[in-house]
Amino acid sequence: MKNFVEIFHDPFIWDIYRQIGNLETASEESLKKSGGVRHDFSHVSAVLGNVDQICNALGLCDADREEILISALLHDVGNMHGRKDHHKNGALMAEEYLNQIDMDEQVKFRIVDSIAGHGSGSETLQGKILALADKLHCTADRFYPTTRQVAPEESHGVSLLMDLKSVDVSVDGDTFIIQFTSNGNFNMDEIIEYQPLIAKIFIPIKECIESLGMKQMVLVDDIEWIVSDKVITAGVNELNQWASNNFKDGHGRDTFVTNAN
Ligand SMILES: [Fe+2]
Ligand SMILES: [Fe+2]
Repeated sequence: MKNFVEIFHDPFIWDIYRQIGNLETASEESLKKSGGVRHDFSHVSAVLGNVDQICNALGLCDADREEILISALLHDVGNMHGRKDHHKNGALMAEEYLNQIDMDEQVKFRIVDSIAGHGSGSETLQGKILALADKLHCTADRFYPTTRQVAPEESHGVSLLMDLKSVDVSVDGDTFIIQFTSNGNFNMDEIIEYQPLIAKIFIPIKECIESLGMKQMVLVDDIEWIVSDKVITAGVNELNQWASNNFKDGHGRDTFVTNAN
């Protein structure tokens, strides 16, 4: 794990995420632009934890784990240059950074590819695990505290996620289990109305688990959170509509592609 530990302790990387946090909280306007969603080191740290959990559940080898941990560590550095195209900008920054490290070219390629694809679907299992670990950080600590005061309709449903406290991942036979714990107030019927948000969370879940050839089970406390393909498709269509309308406003994202039908 030499490379991961070295990168993890590199002040250059910490400084990038510190700057991202400062940019997001610089003013009410910038906080609003970030959607109240953190892309600072606290987010990265949670994604690293999720990657660890997924690797443990799947019994992945140390080499695969290290590769995905490095991609998780670097995945949001592109936010230094704003939300728009942060996947692509981050991939370029990561490539430049990793070129200074003695690393297998194939591994480097997959790390950069995972970062480039963490919002819109990566072809590799490593990339799909990164996207899953990223989106599973949709619990209360993902958001700046003021997000809780924003009405659900204004936050596109995001403030409702603040009722989720934590997430755990496990495997039971051929079932991949994602277990959220809530504060008791999480409302599945209310949040389902925010289809783009649901799509953003459930697409990486579905794509990763399908590529593993496993069945998915998502629970909030002891209730199964079932989302139909119809809801996901409607959410994707709405996301793509937003992307084409708002690209200039810093909400730009790559076009979402999904197999959901
Ligand atoms: Fe990101
Ligand atoms: Fe992220």
